[in-house]
Amino acid sequence: MTAVFPLHRTTRPTPAPDRDAILADPGFGTHFTDHMASATWTPDAGWHGHRIGPVTPYTLHPGAAVLHYAQEVFEGLKAYRHADGSVWLFRPEINAARFARSARRLSLPEVSEAEFLASVEELVRADEAWVPAFGGEQSLYLRPFMFASETFLGVRPAHRVEYSVIACPAGMYFSSGSGVTLWISTTFTRAAAGGTGEAKCGGNYAASLAAQTEAHEHGCDQVLYVDGVEHEWLEESGTMNVCLVTSDGELVTPPLGTILEGVTRDSVLALAGEHGLTAVQRPVSVTELRERCADGSVTEVFAAGTAAVITPIVGFKGADLDVRVGGGAPGKTTLALREHILDLQYGRVADTRGWLRRVV
Ligand code: COI
Repeated sequence: MTAVFPLHRTTRPTPAPDRDAILADPGFGTHFTDHMASATWTPDAGWHGHRIGPVTPYTLHPGAAVLHYAQEVFEGLKAYRHADGSVWLFRPEINAARFARSARRLSLPEVSEAEFLASVEELVRADEAWVPAFGGEQSLYLRPFMFASETFLGVRPAHRVEYSVIACPAGMYFSSGSGVTLWISTTFTRAAAGGTGEAKCGGNYAASLAAQTEAHEHGCDQVLYVDGVEHEWLEESGTMNVCLVTSDGELVTPPLGTILEGVTRDSVLALAGEHGLTAVQRPVSVTELRERCADGSVTEVFAAGTAAVITPIVGFKGADLDVRVGGGAPGKTTLALREHILDLQYGRVADTRGWLRRVV
């Protein structure tokens, strides 16, 4: 297996003034860079055709398996520009490992860590001009993914799979810096034991859309899922993990099992001690959330994810529930942790844990 993605540079790059206009206000997920990484897998040849080339639409037969059975997994990570112009990834090895776990769960072939890292790094190097300048909260969002491209309507693991990485310059995922409100859905659940909750697969996000609509209909920004049996135990938000800060110095987050093992979640747990907090992974009930927000012993709640970084949660609503967190404004520990993560990612503080990987 090769971990080399040779570059075939586009002959029609986005003109610099157009690129600069996009970088001035990139939004999230709407503007893409000039290149993509790709490779194809078949049982006989394994992974082959590795390349970085111009962004090109796929040609798929309408019978392609992914269009029918959603055999697909993806990742999300970012490249950050530092003050000296260098470009870095944040803990990409964790994304590589999670991508492999997601692939196993969806019966897709694994991409090795070396191939995953090479594809991402080579793409960032090819599209370096698209990495936003140091100084704001912008980055180059990278989206590795793979899907079943075999034309076949039988239900079995596909015999042809495409792996790709695309990239888009990204600003803030949530425009509300003042915090978001979550809708605790008892209509929809995200995952059950033995399901695909731990995998980062498109199907989980497709199923989240109805819950997200329900949240919007109730004036909330996002959904907060609870377990499917008792409708009582917190799981995760639509695109982020959830953490609570307590007045007795704990940083509490639901345990793994049916939720996504977030890179930001893991980083926050590791940094908790530096903020005077003890990291605790344990089940959290809606009852506890409601009672402790009311009596002030849960002082802050926030969500953690690559796209959203750390987003303050200032309230929850549910069928019989309307909870305000703290004073209804972002808490100081939340903001300090957010700053800490961003300081690390943008190289504004020393990387004592070896979390950063230089690309340019
Ligand atoms: C991420 O945080 O990277 C995600 O994948 C969430 C999302 C935008 C679907």
